[in-house]
Amino acid sequence: MAIPEPTTARLKLVNPDLSHVDPLAELFSDREVMKFIGIGKPWSRAQVEARIERGMGLNADGLPYFWTVTLADTGEVMGQAGVVPIHFDGAEIELGYRLGLKYWGHGYATEAAEGAMQCAFAGADTGGLGFERLVAVTYPDNHPSRRVLSKLGFREVGMSDKYYGVESLLHERLRG
Ligand SMILES: CC(C)(COP(=O)(O)OP(=O)(O)OC[C@H]1O[C@@H](n2cnc3c(N)ncnc32)[C@H](O)[C@@H]1OP(=O)(O)O)[C@@H](O)C(=O)NCCC(=O)NCCS
Repeated sequence: MAIPEPTTARLKLVNPDLSHVDPLAELFSDREVMKFIGIGKPWSRAQVEARIERGMGLNADGLPYFWTVTLADTGEVMGQAGVVPIHFDGAEIELGYRLGLKYWGHGYATEAAEGAMQCAFAGADTGGLGFERLVAVTYPDNHPSRRVLSKLGFREVGMSDKYYGVESLLHERLRG
């Protein structure tokens, strides 16, 4: 299955390719951007490249990976947002997003995540991915991200140490 590429009023979410490595590596080398991602450290160019290659592999297998978020007007790369299959104690689909610092505070994360979520829940008959349930995990101190999820209708389930080996706050939303 070809992976769809959602668009929103201001953004185009595009499937990852190697031309995104350099701009994303620049955005994700920032300590402030990465402090609530994984173990909280900036990513090297090699780490970004490995993730993009993994995403391209998932897409080739008909599975989604975080889209590269671009500004529709200019095509500039702003970050990533999307849904990705995860497997900790069961198969789940995770919604995630991360934008370069200069793009914060303009509603872009909400817009990108909403476009990703709509595509994730839409049925294959309307060009969507047809998932029933999405999860998201945040550090409890990441109030902007918790706010984004709340605006998208996610429910805070509670703390869990199941994801990524760190105690984090689990959110979920069902299609509907
Ligand atoms: C989290 C992140 C994606 C938010 O991006 P953004 O484009 O600024 O988000 P939006 O503008 O769409 O929405 C942010 C919301 O949080 C609110 N907010 C910002 N700072 C806040 C704070 N300290 N406490 C509570 N709410 C806060 C904003 O007011 C806004 O809500 P509103 O629309 O009701 O006013 C961005 O900060 C980011 O990329 N952070 C680094 C990566 C990251 O943490 N990703 C999420 C991992 S779970």
